[in-house]
Amino acid sequence: MNAGPIASREQDTDWTRKDFMNESRVAVVIGGGTGIGRACAEVLVERGWSVCCFGRDRDTDWPEVIPFAQLDVTDDAALAAVAAKFPRLDALVNSAGIILHEGQEFEGDGFRRVIDVNLIGTERASVLFRDALATHGGAIVNVASVWSSFGSARNPAYSASKGAVVSLTRSHAVAFAPLGVRVNAVAPGWIETRLSERARTDPARSSAITQRIPMGRWGEPRDVGDVVAFLVSEESRYVTGAVIPVDGGYCIA
Ligand code: NAI
Repeated sequence: MNAGPIASREQDTDWTRKDFMNESRVAVVIGGGTGIGRACAEVLVERGWSVCCFGRDRDTDWPEVIPFAQLDVTDDAALAAVAAKFPRLDALVNSAGIILHEGQEFEGDGFRRVIDVNLIGTERASVLFRDALATHGGAIVNVASVWSSFGSARNPAYSASKGAVVSLTRSHAVAFAPLGVRVNAVAPGWIETRLSERARTDPARSSAITQRIPMGRWGEPRDVGDVVAFLVSEESRYVTGAVIPVDGGYCIA
């Protein structure tokens, strides 16, 4: 977790120079510069995919072999411009997400910001890449959460956004099936990334969480990446509209 903000666009990899159109399996990971998104990208690269990552920021130890460019999912025009560069695509992973603390999600602006990134960003990207995915029977994987089903006393916007991501996944699965595009979601539990840092570094909270996880440990980003790789692979060709928990059993305990 070496995430740090990127100073300028000059640090972007020149992903437009790479000829993705001649690659056999091409994936775009949004929110792919850190945490779970990065793990998805790395697992896919290891499995022979060509992957291009976009997001607000990336880790300082970013692997230069994976193209990355800054993109704000709340910027419709920027998102559309990126999507237009991919006339064909095999997989889209929507991993961009934020959570706000200190009661900000109870304020109008905070609530809107979270919905804008977590829900509307996912919706926009999926629609904008839909036709490119339809050319080769591609797949979308959205990153939901265990908070898709639980109520959250601290983070009502986060929880509402993730619940809606599940509904959106099901709606897009039905809508895009005739185009040959599958749409699924993963629902991670407690995964060691900066997003969960607050809970992880609070000893009382962290140990209560760990005790409730039947498998007895927090997840690593790759635990999620491997399931995402399955959901975009041929092995899951008859799976659409599914939401797979990746939580060590947290939800069933
Ligand atoms: P993270 O903070 O490392 O990743 C979030 C990513 O979203 C970052 O790469 C960031 O650049 C990107 N992002 C944020 N705002 C953006 C924007 N406006 N435009 C484009 N990109 C933006 O944390 P993590 O945990 O890897 O989060 C990834 C996804 O996993 C999120 O959707 C999160 O809600 C979800 N998740 C995480 C869990 C955890 O325990 N870490 C549990 C359940 C779900």
